Amino acid sequence: MIDFLTKMPKAELHLHIEGSLEPELMFELAQRNNLPLPYADLEAVRQAYQFGNLQDFLDIYYASAAVLITEQDFYDLTWAYLKKCAEQSVLHSEIFFDPQTHTQRGISFATVINGISRALADAKAQLGISSLLIMCFLRHLSAEEAMQILVEASPYKAQLAGVGLDSSELGHPPEKFTEVFEMAAEMGLPAVAHAGEEGPAEYIWNALNLLKVRRIDHGVRCVEDAELVAVLKEKQIPLTVCPLSNTKLKVFQDMSEHNILDLLEQGVNVTVNSDDPAYFGGYVNENFIALFEALSMSRAQAVKLAQNSFKASFLPQQEKQALL
Ligand code: HPA
Ligand code: ZN
Repeated sequence: MIDFLTKMPKAELHLHIEGSLEPELMFELAQRNNLPLPYADLEAVRQAYQFGNLQDFLDIYYASAAVLITEQDFYDLTWAYLKKCAEQSVLHSEIFFDPQTHTQRGISFATVINGISRALADAKAQLGISSLLIMCFLRHLSAEEAMQILVEASPYKAQLAGVGLDSSELGHPPEKFTEVFEMAAEMGLPAVAHAGEEGPAEYIWNALNLLKVRRIDHGVRCVEDAELVAVLKEKQIPLTVCPLSNTKLKVFQDMSEHNILDLLEQGVNVTVNSDDPAYFGGYVNENFIALFEALSMSRAQAVKLAQNSFKASFLPQQEKQALL
């Protein structure tokens, strides 16, 4: 079964490129850029990666991203992730990036997007992996700052497949960003948003109704509202679920409690993703394997989850069909 899961063709739709920064590369970039790190060695990093909730993780994740300085750094980060995709039979990936994490530190938008985009082009040519880029707004910052980054991104619009919303969910509901998402829609950018990870079902409703998102990232708290589950099912709104992330951040205390397979059996369009693989103990295949080991996921369920990942992607219909 593990061999089957590893070789099964799949797409990944919920991956933060900054969250794929492995400790080894973090040390290498810190040295290259002459920057201090709060960790003596790799063991100290492993010790630090124990989180009680989303915010515990985000504090460490943003601090680590500070080693990314040059265009080459962003290239190396992205290329390392795409090589993993090749090993894991990920044929297509939709990659989140958080430009505000970098522009706030004085790194230019061009440095970030040019480094990432060059790696995406090389992966297409050398590894045969297709990818799309989704720009996320940091929801703990203001709507004005989100609007500013959207304006800054507009010359690069052709390189973006959509916009998203991430970072600290509680206290930063979707409606804070209604106007920003309206502007993105006017620019022709489809939307997704993190909702229902730590936040309540109401955040999922508002992401759908106010931000007009095409997919919900995480969304696992939808089960608290039966009417919402019915709408997600009826409209086949994809949920990009991240099992290992959810257990590491204590959304579920144990993988045996995870609701992804129940949602799948109810007919909800769920997919499996890694979120921040360098922090949560694995890439997409480790997430599939965890579902097999803790929840006895069947082969048929795994195949359905993988099919959902292609169907839920932003690829044009023809390209989707070719991968299915
Ligand atoms: N939730 C919110 N923001 C994030 C996450 C997440 O799981 N990963 C990276 N930024
Ligand atoms: Zn995420």
